[in-house]
Amino acid sequence: MFSIHEPAEGSIEAPLTALAELQRQGLVRHIGLSNVTPAQIEEGRRIAPIVCVQNLYNLAHRADDALIDALARDGVAYVPFFPLGGFHPLQSATLSEVAAGLGASPMQVALAWLLRRAPNILLIPGTSSVAHLRENLAVAELNLSDEAATTLDGLAAGAGSA
Ligand SMILES: NC(=O)c1ccc[n+]([C@@H]2O[C@H](COP(=O)([O-])OP(=O)(O)OC[C@H]3O[C@@H](n4cnc5c(N)ncnc54)[C@H](OP(=O)(O)O)[C@@H]3O)[C@@H](O)[C@H]2O)c1
Repeated sequence: MFSIHEPAEGSIEAPLTALAELQRQGLVRHIGLSNVTPAQIEEGRRIAPIVCVQNLYNLAHRADDALIDALARDGVAYVPFFPLGGFHPLQSATLSEVAAGLGASPMQVALAWLLRRAPNILLIPGTSSVAHLRENLAVAELNLSDEAATTLDGLAAGAGSA
């Protein structure tokens, strides 16, 4: 199914060439790409250095698993958008159970899983609530055990109904 939040193939040469020129002029410091496929990232990196990629990724939506690992090897940051599910907040009995065991909220555990997922992940959870902002910041101190991480790893296929 087509989604506006998933990338469509197609050349990014024209916009990226314009950005690379602005970078040469000193008007742009770093260039990142969003909603892109691995092929588009490859194309982009032939035109200009790419410092980060922002794509849809969370516990339930794992299409970029291999891409994240490849970018980590190359020292390129990966910024998962909709880390909490966006318009469809993550919901799972397994996630809630793991969270209860840690004395944390399910959303905190979903963020902790992302932080543990790879060293190049940068989190940008959106919130309009100061309480949620505090909860989200506290995730930096939340350590998932290997067992909890493995349980959560298994969620992707049955997310939403687990
Ligand atoms: N590059 C792109 O194409 C693209 C596309 C989409 C999004 N983005 C960016 O990605 C970032 C994240 O996207 P997003 O904010 O839409 O999705 P998200 O972070 O997955 O979800 C945000 C939702 O989660 C709730 N939330 C946040 N913290 C929570 C917590 N601790 N407990 C319970 N609920 C919590 C928020 O509600 P409350 O307000 O009630 O906390 C909000 O409804 C944003 O910066 C957005 O601009 C980029």
